[in-house]
Amino acid sequence: MLPSSRETIRITSVLCVLLAVVTIAFGLSSTGCVAPAPSGAGTKQDIAPVYAVEIQPLKTQQCGRCHYSFYDQLRNEGGKHRIDCQRCHEQFHVYRPGRVKYEDILPKCETCHGQIHGGGLARCAECHEAHAPMNLPANRALEQGCYICHPEADKEMKTYVTQHTELYCFTCHHTRHRHVPECMECHQPHTRRMTQADCLACHPPHKALQVIYPEDIPQESCAGCHRHAYDMLKQSGTKHTALGCARCHPEHRAIMPCQGCHPETHSADMLQKYPACGRCHGIAHSLS
Ligand code: HEC
Ligand code: HEC
Ligand code: HEC
Ligand code: HEC
Ligand code: HEC
Ligand code: HEC
Ligand code: HEC
Ligand code: HEC
Ligand code: HEC
Ligand code: HEC
Ligand code: HEC
Ligand code: HEC
Repeated sequence: MLPSSRETIRITSVLCVLLAVVTIAFGLSSTGCVAPAPSGAGTKQDIAPVYAVEIQPLKTQQCGRCHYSFYDQLRNEGGKHRIDCQRCHEQFHVYRPGRVKYEDILPKCETCHGQIHGGGLARCAECHEAHAPMNLPANRALEQGCYICHPEADKEMKTYVTQHTELYCFTCHHTRHRHVPECMECHQPHTRRMTQADCLACHPPHKALQVIYPEDIPQESCAGCHRHAYDMLKQSGTKHTALGCARCHPEHRAIMPCQGCHPETHSADMLQKYPACGRCHGIAHSLS
């Protein structure tokens, strides 16, 4: 059923109002919308409403109607790439097999970023996805770059050789870039209550056998491996019992001399005769 000409005019004016709102909203120039006059074949007034509008370039959301997977990806993971499609895709839908090459249509990262990491990392797409640029899965492609961007970590691993030196960086830093692993993914703790923070307090991960620890490390942390020393110290009940292990063993395997804390307890004469404190005081953990 065709609408009557009065209805046509009413519909068109409603459309006109709508268009005017849209026009103002987008700040575009007038679309020249006028209600059609009853007759006059071949004049401008004769144009059917659907053709009465000047075509505007597609907006990002409109690209998204067809390319919804890319739109969604940008929305969820696009980061600072959440800009209009056409700022990157200056040309599109122009692929012609045999005449226009597909890769020539697609935008090039270098146009906007240049060789941002230097010539050694020129193949951007091996690590980055255009529509999710900061989602960097850990894999062999990324691994070639660890050594370029993090030379200190690499140098440390090679200087202090341990069995970790044999691992790929991404064996530990798996999943994605910046991921830091839990030691307990691969190891048992020395005592049940140890946490990741404890592991790192003693083991710098890139030189794991260079055990260092803070002066206030609890005695229990050592107890897992040195039960005998721990028990003896606890049970003896001397003034040494309250001291942290690290006070006398500031580095692993190091032993601080008694005189470091007791410089002038006995006369020089006596100490010349009996230089070993342990002769009278036994061992430090029990003082007997
Ligand atoms: C920051 C720049 C940038 C933005 C913004 C961007 N793209 Fe892309 N797009 C690219 C690049 C670069 C490629 C080529 C990727 C490649 O080589 O794998 C691409 C590829 C494509 C492809 C072809 C994919 C294929 O696998 O063949 C489509 C389709 C596409 N983009 C659609 C969109 C749509 C739709 C939007 C907006 C919702 C958009 N892009 C926003 C840079 C961008
Ligand atoms: C009506 C659906 C539709 C709309 C709207 C649409 N596209 Fe496409 N686009 C397609 C189809 C279909 C293809 C070809 C098949 C494919 O590669 O997915 C394509 C291919 C592409 C390609 C890759 C090949 C080439 O020739 O460039 C890019 C890039 C692209 N579109 C970008 C865009 C951008 C940017 C917009 C918005 C400005 C957009 N498209 C809007 C349907 C659409
Ligand atoms: C049309 C220009 C343009 C193109 C082409 C382009 N980018 Fe970008 N890219 C930008 C802009 C703009 C930003 C935001 C920069 C800023 O704010 O510092 C950005 C940011 C980024 C970021 C940081 C994202 C974030 O969320 O912090 C990465 C990574 C990136 N781009 C990689 C790429 C890669 C890889 C390509 C090719 C696949 C590419 N870009 C293509 C314009 C572009
Ligand atoms: C070996 C992998 C790799 C390659 C190849 C690579 N990138 Fe990156 N890119 C990264 C990593 C990793 C980051 C740091 C991400 C972070 O900060 O978490 C990064 C960061 C960026 C940033 C953000 C910089 C900032 O300061 O915010 C941009 C832009 C970028 N890359 C663009 C490029 C471009 C363009 C290319 C190609 C010329 C490229 N990348 C090649 C891995 C790579
Ligand atoms: C293109 C350079 C680049 C490449 C390639 C790269 N990174 Fe990074 N990485 C960065 C930047 C930039 C940061 C942020 C540094 C900061 O915030 O001080 C970072 C941070 C990190 C962090 C610290 C995370 C945190 O929050 O403390 C780890 C871990 C890391 N990268 C591991 C790796 C590993 C492993 C590889 C290789 C698989 C790698 N990176 C490849 C540039 C890069
Ligand atoms: C992805 C698995 C993985 C993670 C995560 C990991 N390691 Fe290891 N580590 C190994 C492997 C494999 C060895 C070789 C010996 C073995 O099989 O247990 C090893 C060996 C060691 C060694 C002995 C080194 C040697 O040369 O004898 C120490 C110490 C060590 N790890 C500490 C740690 C600490 C501390 C952490 C956390 C910061 C950690 N590891 C995280 C896999 C891992
Ligand atoms: C055995 C597992 C393991 C291996 C292998 C490993 N890392 Fe790490 N890495 C860690 C852990 C755990 C941390 C967190 C340290 C912390 O929080 O104090 C870390 C921290 C980092 C950091 C951020 C802090 C820093 O030291 O700058 C970077 C960058 C890094 N690693 C790069 C690398 C690179 C590059 C490689 C390969 C050469 C590598 N890692 C190999 C476990 C590992
Ligand atoms: C109090 C310091 C300390 C803490 C905390 C600590 N370690 Fe150790 N760890 C050591 C010492 C010391 C060694 C022996 C090194 C040697 O043989 O020279 C060692 C050895 C290891 C070894 C080598 C194999 C073995 O059992 O002898 C692994 C693996 C290890 N530690 C993992 C861990 C993990 C995982 C954690 C956290 C749950 C952790 N360590 C916490 C001091 C510590
Ligand atoms: C993972 C087990 C482990 C942990 C935890 C551990 N050690 Fe050890 N420690 C060893 C091993 C193995 C040796 C070497 C024993 C040997 O050579 O007979 C050693 C040796 C020592 C020695 C030297 C003994 C000597 O005869 O010269 C001292 C002192 C020592 N540790 C103190 C500590 C202290 C203090 C802590 C806690 C901060 C600690 N250890 C934590 C495994 C550990
Ligand atoms: C890290 C410092 C430190 C070291 C090293 C040290 N001591 Fe002590 N010692 C102390 C402190 C603190 C006391 C308690 C002093 C006080 O309360 O006046 C103490 C007390 C003593 C006492 C009195 C014990 C009591 O229960 O009344 C004797 C005996 C003693 N130390 C002998 C030794 C001998 C022998 C050595 C070497 C094997 C030694 N000390 C190493 C810090 C140390
Ligand atoms: C010949 C035996 C002998 C030797 C060797 C010896 N001491 Fe003593 N030490 C004693 C006696 C006896 C006392 C007094 C015990 C008391 O008063 O209960 C004592 C007391 C101490 C006290 C406790 C002082 C106080 O104020 O309570 C310290 C600390 C001490 N000695 C440290 C040392 C150190 C360090 C050495 C080695 C440099 C050493 N002694 C060597 C016999 C000895
Ligand atoms: C007051 C200083 C002092 C304190 C506190 C101390 N040690 Fe010692 N430790 C020594 C001295 C000195 C020796 C060397 C033997 C001797 O002469 O007594 C020693 C020897 C050791 C040894 C090697 C001999 C053995 O008994 O296996 C280990 C392991 C050890 N200490 C671990 C520990 C642990 C673990 C703690 C904390 C629970 C601790 N020590 C607290 C001074 C101390």
